Amino acid sequence: MKKLIISTLFSVLCLSAWNVSAEDKPLDPAAGKRLYETYCFMCHDRGLSNAPRPAEKVDWDKLLPLGEETLFKAVIDGPGHMYPKGISPVWSEWELRSMIRYMMDTVTDADSQKQANTASAADKERHLQLLHGRKLYEQTCFKCHDYGDLGAPKLGSLESWAGSKDKSMDALARSVIDGKNHMYAHGGSNSLSINEFKSMIEYMLSSLEKGWVSPQRKCQ
Ligand code: HEC
Ligand code: HEC
Repeated sequence: MKKLIISTLFSVLCLSAWNVSAEDKPLDPAAGKRLYETYCFMCHDRGLSNAPRPAEKVDWDKLLPLGEETLFKAVIDGPGHMYPKGISPVWSEWELRSMIRYMMDTVTDADSQKQANTASAADKERHLQLLHGRKLYEQTCFKCHDYGDLGAPKLGSLESWAGSKDKSMDALARSVIDGKNHMYAHGGSNSLSINEFKSMIEYMLSSLEKGWVSPQRKCQ
């Protein structure tokens, strides 16, 4: 018994030592580049649905200040039209982080580099919330709200949101959960928390801000 405990303890220790060394392994942007060129280029090189293109400064202006950690969390969740983890669920954290490091490193001008990781914690959190909200929105809500069908306030259209945009978040969430006229209860989705509904609404409202770019644009 004692032997068993000692050997179990030993393997646990070995395993945790292995984990630590795997995590400590320095990121390798060159390895990240090779993986990127196999698995990520098809959307990112051509900026499909606004996927940030390597070395295109304008695509990274807003992303570099968010820092690597935020982008890593975003990629794990699968932003917008991207699948979780970019395409494959089997990446190790090291591989994924090396790819992201490679992508971030392609924008090399001093100004951009100075901006890296300068966003506030609140801005980073909001970025992730909006991406998550958008992802959920695109599962069901888009069917009516992308096009303004049946009188639904249309994404990006200040005019069609006139009657709704000044309501409180709680009131808007209530409308969605209970249903309103042609919008059925839960807007067609079910097992979601109130915070998830709020994230979707936040995303919809963010489309009314200046400078918002429709995800439908820029498909080349
Ligand atoms: C199916 C197309 C597709 C593939 C494949 C893909 N991406 Fe993306 N990626 C996107 C799109 C679209 C966005 C922009 C989402 C948005 O609108 O903000 C994006 C955004 C990102 C971002 C920015 C995230 C943020 O916080 O806004 C990173 C980093 C990223 N992708 C990394 C990767 C990596 C690494 C891979 C390969 C493992 C990959 N992507 C594969 C489509 C793709
Ligand atoms: C079947 C079409 C349809 C779907 C799907 C749908 N909506 Fe709606 N939505 C509408 C219509 C129509 C209205 C306008 C209702 C009215 O005021 O007559 C609306 C209104 C709203 C409003 C404004 C409510 C208010 O009180 O002013 C919000 C916010 C909203 N929808 C969010 C969502 C979210 C989030 C989803 C996805 C979970 C969703 N909708 C799915 C049709 C839809």
